[in-house]
Amino acid sequence: MMEEDQFLEVGKVDEISIGKMKHVQVQGKEIVICNVGGKFYAMDDRCGHMNARLSMGNISNEGIVTCPFHGARFDATTGKKVKEPVLMPSQEMEPLPKTWQNYLEYAGELMSYIKTYDQQIYEVHVEGNALKIRTNNNKSD
Ligand code: FES
Repeated sequence: MMEEDQFLEVGKVDEISIGKMKHVQVQGKEIVICNVGGKFYAMDDRCGHMNARLSMGNISNEGIVTCPFHGARFDATTGKKVKEPVLMPSQEMEPLPKTWQNYLEYAGELMSYIKTYDQQIYEVHVEGNALKIRTNNNKSD
């Protein structure tokens, strides 16, 4: 059995430069490690909206991660959602055939009922060049 407070090595400090992210898998979880101004943060890599990989999106200098799928934003330092997803296609797009417009409107309506959750975060330890995270968060619920 794993100890509650065990930290597992998931990568190296010099693999993730400032302003970059890295996808890792540990104990069946998909996690994104973010380097925000030289400090490391970890949160679930699957978007709290519809499961896209956040590590394939963008990260700002302040550590705001934008999902590549519908543009929801999360603060990598807290895991909190800071912007809702965008559900409708941009007005600047070429007009789509009517059947596609109808479909996208329908999909947009369905998506409007989907709640976007904050991301679970994980504690990160730096030991020399090793990046370690703790995945057991002692959930009480
Ligand atoms: S899956 Fe991330 S914003 Fe929709």
